[in-house]
Amino acid sequence: MPRAVDLAYVRYQVPDLDKMQTFMEDFGLITAKRTDDVLLMRGGGVAPVVHITYKGDKKFLGGALIMSSKEDLEELAKLEGSGPVEEITDLPGGGWRVRMQHPDGLEIDGVWGQEPVEPIEHRSSHHFNWGDRKERVNQSLRPQREPGLALKLGHFVLKVRDHDQTLAWMRERFAMLDSDKMIVPSVNKAVGTFIRFDLGSELVDHHSILINEASEVGCHHCAFEMQDFDAVMGAHDYLVSKGYHLDIGVGRHLIGSQIFDYWTDPFGNRIEHYTDGDANTAEYKGKDYYLDDEGPTKSQWGMDPTPEFFR
Ligand SMILES: [Fe+2]
Repeated sequence: MPRAVDLAYVRYQVPDLDKMQTFMEDFGLITAKRTDDVLLMRGGGVAPVVHITYKGDKKFLGGALIMSSKEDLEELAKLEGSGPVEEITDLPGGGWRVRMQHPDGLEIDGVWGQEPVEPIEHRSSHHFNWGDRKERVNQSLRPQREPGLALKLGHFVLKVRDHDQTLAWMRERFAMLDSDKMIVPSVNKAVGTFIRFDLGSELVDHHSILINEASEVGCHHCAFEMQDFDAVMGAHDYLVSKGYHLDIGVGRHLIGSQIFDYWTDPFGNRIEHYTDGDANTAEYKGKDYYLDDEGPTKSQWGMDPTPEFFR
């Protein structure tokens, strides 16, 4: 059974790549390549590309996951809706991919064999002096109001027509594990499942994908991890100073626990900085969260999501 081990990239289409590039660089991603037709952004980690934008009408095209082996790609290629195993010649890092048509028309790629890039040098995460434990002695903190560096693509949220169908579709292709679920109490039905990679006893993010049943198909948001709270807040102030549109933030989510800060790019696509999310092993048993007034629609602290956030 094919198994995914990490996220690779997300793919969008917007009419103005100059505008997108300016925003993305202000957001803390780095231009890996730019042509008249495509904008490729990398983060601070080893991934050669994490966010791709083509020139065209505004649209979310899909996302990509890294598979555990090349044999996985061959297995993926045999499944309904899959293209062939093809060499990646249009992105830095090379490798191979299989492009799969999701039942709602999204394109989900399985990739393998990308050449990693050198990580970008950045300040290490701060040592904090907690109420009950001091980590920083005879040293001061000097965080900056700056874009900072988005280290990696941490998760993306797919809006799909049929939650159960997509969950089964993803399981068959990626062997990911369920973390927590969001349930509509009146019908006792799951409409959202947070899924994570199965790396056994190795720590993975609580969720790398959220599958969300919605009236509109697309991507609710993509999210990039920053090294600490100061980086998120410094980037927050910087984006405010540039006049960008704050969606919700800063706050701490209930499910996954991360400190979030959501923005919209100039074309209305939601994009998140986060830090301090839950880390899990394969042993973690997910919980059910009921979508009532006290449930996951509220933040634990900070700004609560608006009704618009759930559309
Ligand atoms: Fe998120």
